[in-house]
Amino acid sequence: MDQKEFARRRKQLMRMMGPDAIAILPTNPEQPRNRDVDYPFRPDSDFYYLTGFAEPEAVMVLAPGREHGEYLLFCRDRDPTMETWHGRRAGPEGAVEKFGADDAFPIQDINEILPGLLESRERVFYTMGSAPEFDHRLISWVNRIRRQSRAGKHAPDEFISLEHFVHDMRLYKSRAEIRVMRQAANISARAHKRAMQLCRPGMMEYELEAEFLHEFRRAGGEPAYPSIVGGGENACILHYTENNAPLKDGDILLIDAGTEHEYYASDITRSFPVNGRFSKAQRAIYQLVLDAQLAAIEEVYPGNTWNAPHDAAVKVITRGLVKLGLLKGRTPTLVRERAYHRFYMHRTGHWLGMDVHDVGDYKVGDEWRVLEPGMVLTVEPGLYIPAGSKGVARKWWNIGIRIEDDVLVTRDGYDVLSKNLPKEIDAIEALMAR
Ligand code: GLY
Ligand code: MN
Ligand code: MN
Repeated sequence: MDQKEFARRRKQLMRMMGPDAIAILPTNPEQPRNRDVDYPFRPDSDFYYLTGFAEPEAVMVLAPGREHGEYLLFCRDRDPTMETWHGRRAGPEGAVEKFGADDAFPIQDINEILPGLLESRERVFYTMGSAPEFDHRLISWVNRIRRQSRAGKHAPDEFISLEHFVHDMRLYKSRAEIRVMRQAANISARAHKRAMQLCRPGMMEYELEAEFLHEFRRAGGEPAYPSIVGGGENACILHYTENNAPLKDGDILLIDAGTEHEYYASDITRSFPVNGRFSKAQRAIYQLVLDAQLAAIEEVYPGNTWNAPHDAAVKVITRGLVKLGLLKGRTPTLVRERAYHRFYMHRTGHWLGMDVHDVGDYKVGDEWRVLEPGMVLTVEPGLYIPAGSKGVARKWWNIGIRIEDDVLVTRDGYDVLSKNLPKEIDAIEALMAR
């Protein structure tokens, strides 16, 4: 993503903060995996959103109106030995030259420099509680200034949650973000198609998972979340990630997998028959979930509420379950009593962005949020009927279906970012027959 995009975000945030404020945001710490080995480092989403800087041990400071520059970055110093062992570092010089910082310092100097920056500011935008160790350091810097009050130093009076402002910004995707999210959805769609075409009874679930890793990685990305590849009874476990069972002729396979591309997630689910042909019972449940998903997507338009797609999906699913004999009673009563919850126990979607379950409030006060252009959400109804379900005919057992797409709110409705991946029964069967 262009450096201008990150600069625009910082400007927007500084406008909201006002002139006598300062924002402080550290990135993630590295996470140990086991002895001497860390998990691959992935920067904190808020930090990356504002800096485009992907190294660990970095702190962003925004000081609107500061004479020697408003945007400061503390980062690791250059170090030939460390770089030989562990990889390149931008260093403070690179932070200025490549990442647009007005001023940059070695991270080990932060104790000397930060108190001086805090001194002249009234308000500190900082998120308490997400990095306890850094919280303590910040408090100690503020206390250091307080102790010097007789020398005329003035510590900031107000602490405001930075996260609240950044998360609201992140909810509205720019043109550049939408372009990247569309690319992410296309890469994931390609992987899903590949899996449909390669799937054969007798394969292991992880063999198909490998096809996703292959497609994601060769586009430079990685999974946005652990891929869910579950056949038969495993299709009925919502967040199944063991992916180590053989795929059986006659079973449904549910795959929920999406790439993270340039730090933006896609999140796509398809469910299809392992042998390429839906049985009569599988077809009935699949078509019902698809009808619910299409009805929910129709509710995505500016001015409608966050919950409208969910309400639409629940209504279609409840009516359909009555028709199939899986629920008994009047649809409005069953909806009110949440009778569908036995087979459809999750919500219809979530915000999508840099995090797969992205930031942004779902309610404003007591009211559901109103959809606005630039928001991206998933629409993902499902039905799960494990073997042994009491009072449920055997023909429905082990059918687990979820259909999930990534949907952008546009000026006059919606755009399905993952539309290049088929979901109609005929289209899936045709794709699998090839
Ligand atoms: N992949 C997690 C979800 O669909 O929410
Ligand atoms: Mn999802
Ligand atoms: Mn998903």
